Amino acid sequence: LLVLGLVQIETMGMPEYAVVAACVDAARLLGQPRHAGLVNAVLRRYLRERAALLAAADLDAVSRHAHPRWMIERISSDWPRDAEAIFAANNCAAALTLRVNRRRSSPEDLIARLAAAGVVAESPAHLPDGLILSESTDVSRLPGFAEGHFSVQDGAAQQVVDLLDVAAGQRVLDACAAPGGKSAHILERAAVELTALDADAGRLPRLRENLARLGLSANVLHGDASRPPGWWDGKPFDRILLDAPCSASGIIRRQPDIKLHRRAADIAPLAAMQARLGAALWPMLAPGGKLLYATCSIFRAENEVVVAGLLDAHADARALPIAERHGRVAGNGRQNLPGNKGMDGFYYALVEKDCS
Ligand SMILES: C[S@@+](CC[C@H](N)C(=O)[O-])C[C@H]1O[C@@H](n2cnc3c(N)ncnc32)[C@H](O)[C@@H]1O
Repeated sequence: LLVLGLVQIETMGMPEYAVVAACVDAARLLGQPRHAGLVNAVLRRYLRERAALLAAADLDAVSRHAHPRWMIERISSDWPRDAEAIFAANNCAAALTLRVNRRRSSPEDLIARLAAAGVVAESPAHLPDGLILSESTDVSRLPGFAEGHFSVQDGAAQQVVDLLDVAAGQRVLDACAAPGGKSAHILERAAVELTALDADAGRLPRLRENLARLGLSANVLHGDASRPPGWWDGKPFDRILLDAPCSASGIIRRQPDIKLHRRAADIAPLAAMQARLGAALWPMLAPGGKLLYATCSIFRAENEVVVAGLLDAHADARALPIAERHGRVAGNGRQNLPGNKGMDGFYYALVEKDCS
């Protein structure tokens, strides 16, 4: 009750004395009359000493930024000039962004259908298939959802498929595909022969459901991308998307529990796994083909360091330039930092295999 009271006062901006009265009533309703007095005393004292208490709490970066200390240190060392803005963006709610299924609708049609249902949406210039809604809502009730006219996907994730440059007839591998957001986007863009692979069998039904709702089909496989003999037919791919498992440090505003669940010690094993995946996938890429490495992390160890390792280890690998709208240059790729253009934090690096 004390925590709820403080959240209602500080974060929700509810009338202070009404909050105290409601918390005291709640203590009584819960059969804790003695605690009703305690709740009353603590919350009232908080209101009296609020400025001094908040100032004291703000002396410590952990409470000032509401991030664990190891994360503050890593973000500050990776992005010294942007760290404060990253913490602030991570503590803000993200807008609801949709991706229009171009096989069934268009941004213009969907904007009109949503408007008829009283929902305001706009189509931002940097997202060819994207719509941003002015308010969050239950998307499954929006017109067109059941018919597969759109999906929910942040703009930074939509920009992944912009880079992959897919064309009809190509053999494409989405090596870490579940729940299928980017697999679906690839298929919405071009009639490719898509293999959608994931090591977690429990996530595949959701991937299949998503493709079915959108009217798309892929060769959905259960397998470990770092062990191709178990699932690969030996035919090279023209495009490989490695949307690697990562710390998810770029999407904290959508999944704030990452602050509690993720540990400093997770990063080195994640980076080792990402490097292993890249090394295992490289031989499956056709000469002249492109591998796109992407993560929803903002940690350099999981991004540019992994890609530098891939380039160093393969003489036939060459990083391709990436447009500025994908964020700032970071090693051989680009990093969108959380909140930039209202999008999640995301890393992108595009690597081409020499033709000879
Ligand atoms: C970032 S998520 C992928 C999100 C997905 N690309 C999308 O857009 O919906 C990473 C996925 O990698 C899968 N994964 C982890 N290790 C893997 C491996 N060795 N081989 C294949 N998939 C793996 C996880 O099960 C998880 O579904």
